[in-house]
Amino acid sequence: MHAFSGQKLEQIPAHVPPELVYDYDSSRDPRMLEDPHARMRSLLLEAPPIFFSPHNGGHWFVTRKQAIVDITMNPEVYSNSLFHAAESPAGEGEHAAPQPGFLMLPISTDPPQHTAYRAPLNQPLAAKSVAALETAIRTMTNELIDNVLDAGRCNFLSDIAEPLPVTLFMQLAGMPTNRLAEFRALATQATSATVDHATREQIFKRIAGILTESIKLRQEKREDDLISRLLDANIHGRKPTFQEMLGYSITLFLGGLDTVVNALSFGVRHLARDQALQAKLRADPSLLPGAVEELLRLYGVACPPRRVTRDVVLHGVQLKQGDALLLLLPAANYDDAAFPNPEQFTLGRTEQHMTFNAGPHRCVGLNLARLEMKVFYQEWLKRIPPFRLDPQAPPRFTGGFNLAVTSLPLVWA
Ligand code: HEM
Repeated sequence: MHAFSGQKLEQIPAHVPPELVYDYDSSRDPRMLEDPHARMRSLLLEAPPIFFSPHNGGHWFVTRKQAIVDITMNPEVYSNSLFHAAESPAGEGEHAAPQPGFLMLPISTDPPQHTAYRAPLNQPLAAKSVAALETAIRTMTNELIDNVLDAGRCNFLSDIAEPLPVTLFMQLAGMPTNRLAEFRALATQATSATVDHATREQIFKRIAGILTESIKLRQEKREDDLISRLLDANIHGRKPTFQEMLGYSITLFLGGLDTVVNALSFGVRHLARDQALQAKLRADPSLLPGAVEELLRLYGVACPPRRVTRDVVLHGVQLKQGDALLLLLPAANYDDAAFPNPEQFTLGRTEQHMTFNAGPHRCVGLNLARLEMKVFYQEWLKRIPPFRLDPQAPPRFTGGFNLAVTSLPLVWA
């Protein structure tokens, strides 16, 4: 048996054999805080492929690509629907999800209900549709670069990575840009690792309040934006209710926020430590889409949960109805059964990485995420001279539901 240090732990259930118990606290693990992706790689070497950790309520972790694909392709057994934000397995961690008190759509539903809820998002978020946002993304990126260029330094997280996706979400949802500063501040607080649970709840109430106003305005008068299109969507032969609209808006907001912030920040940290790669991408920007994809693979961020609906054996491990699983997508990207030389940055890989997951819930915003990242790197590498980590202030990280960067000071000549 492992000796678990520190806090109160759940009892290890009788069906969990001792050899599958591994001491891993995603929120407080010191190695996680030092370098989250190095910790993911160490889990592949040190922990069983499916292991149980009693921290934060006690749940299973899955680290290999094939097992995760099998889980996501079988939503009848591995359900999203039992996860309302309030009972997330990371519920006690700093990255606990908010408790909005309504169904997060479409993510908290299972097929066939999920299919109906997801359908209205597919077309507006398809590659062709989001291409219309390219100019706006480029303009926003350049405005943010203008603010830091001459200083020769920035905190990438707060100066660039946080503002960009919030601004873009507001544009996508058709929210008034005169409320940008207010919404940006709320968004930053909402996803901050240092905000306590009660404050976070208050912040989410205020965000829901602002989204409510936007939905009401669009109810009165449609515009050319996502909220207007969702209002006219057909779900089970009717239009979405107000609560459903709120469920969509919050999920889109959250889905596109923390994830993009962290994917961008980890990617930029990689480039800051690899001057040769920076030079290569500056010299040939046509390599950027491939580089974005490989940075996404190396730096997965989301670890989505599932709940087991009936007793089942998964890759030789007995699971019981009600068990909670966390899919460690960032670890699965280093699974050498799926990715040759997984630790290497390699352009032109053909295997699908797991950062956006697989199965029916595979990220519906992935085209937008890729576009944001591609345009960002194009402009950043064009305008910012060779940059590196600030030797006086190393980056800081945190674990929890998502793998996250909390500070990323950069310098350039
Ligand atoms: C690099 C950035 C992003 C990453 C790493 C990411 C990751 C993910 C993952 C892993 C899932 C699957 C969750 C599950 O299996 O339960 C997901 C779903 C989702 N994402 Fe993203 N995401 C990103 C960007 C975005 C953006 C920009 C949007 C907004 C347009 C978005 C909206 C959503 C939505 C609405 C879902 C739920 C889909 C469903 O349940 O069918 N994501 N995302």
